Amino acid sequence: MMQTVLALETSCDETAVAVVQFNAGKFQVLANCIASQAAEHAQWGGVVPEIASRRHLESMPFLLEEAVKDSGIGFNEMNAIAATVTPGLTGALLVGSITARTLAELHHLPFLGIHHLEGHLSSAFLSDDPPASPYLLLLVSGGHTELIRVDRNLVYKRVGFSHDDAAGEAFDKVARLLGLPYPGGPEIENIAKNGNPKRFLFPKGRVSNPEGGFFPYDFSFSGLKTAVLRQIEKINLLEDELPKADLAASFEQVVAEVLVERSLKYALDHGIKSLVMVGGVAANNRLREIMSEEASKKSIAVHIAPKAFCTDNAAMIGTAALLRLESMTRPSSIELGVSARFQLDQSDLLYQAEPPF
Ligand code: KG4
Ligand code: ZN
Repeated sequence: MMQTVLALETSCDETAVAVVQFNAGKFQVLANCIASQAAEHAQWGGVVPEIASRRHLESMPFLLEEAVKDSGIGFNEMNAIAATVTPGLTGALLVGSITARTLAELHHLPFLGIHHLEGHLSSAFLSDDPPASPYLLLLVSGGHTELIRVDRNLVYKRVGFSHDDAAGEAFDKVARLLGLPYPGGPEIENIAKNGNPKRFLFPKGRVSNPEGGFFPYDFSFSGLKTAVLRQIEKINLLEDELPKADLAASFEQVVAEVLVERSLKYALDHGIKSLVMVGGVAANNRLREIMSEEASKKSIAVHIAPKAFCTDNAAMIGTAALLRLESMTRPSSIELGVSARFQLDQSDLLYQAEPPF
């Protein structure tokens, strides 16, 4: 059956509206509109929640109009309205959630509240080679670095995570150390192209297990950030010019290697033959290349989200909503609110008569 959804994403600093259709086993993005506030937040070095909410409110009417027009689909042809409801900045989430619920009531359509990380995961279904469970999911964004085992669709088990900074956060912080603007990921990737990734040997942060040894599938990036800072201080003391390209390339290399090594270790240790990589950091070319190369050596199939859908967008939220509809999930309660934090493995609760928040 053909299904079409209108989806809204406002969890952080991108206001996004999309129309996505599922037809004959394929997802089609009919409209994908994004207004990024990154440039405005850049002057503060990161996202300012109050500014984010205000900008979402201002941009939303225009984006809605544009997306509906681009899609050529009327509200009478839509099957549901979806919005990200967790995790994220509460004030920012509220804008998308209230808009979506109002539209759902107005047009007598079901409302689906979507977990942002399920949205990221769903971006992998927008590729020509979508994954099939079971698989291991590596989710790397500005707020999360998680290894999640998906034995069946929509059933999640977290098996690894970062104990401090997320991978994207590390990119943003190191970019700042190098005097590059926010968001740092694309900036670092850009200058790293001309750098030597072997010039500096930065540490692959490990998380110790109080019972001895290390947690083999967990991550720590705060020590890496400090190591880059120490290196910069050392070079500054010598009053040498900062080799920014080499620092960026060496940093990017070690982050990519750590993400790839621990993901593949889990997959190999547990006999998982398929790996999915999504989230803003998954847009990084060095990471995409190393992951594809190393996985193929180990005969593990890799499914990476299309680059255009790695960073925050609403097409992935629409895809998640369609996957939920396909699995006969019931709509969310119109009373469902928003929450700054909520575990992905609890996302079924978003579709219960009694909402969790
Ligand atoms: O998924 P996303 O758009 O938002 C969150 O849900 O957090 O991820 C944003 C993060 C930022 O930290 C940004 O620096 C990072 O993804 N990022 C990248 C690249 N593009 C975005 N990191 C490395 N390389 C990139 N090309
Ligand atoms: Zn995100």
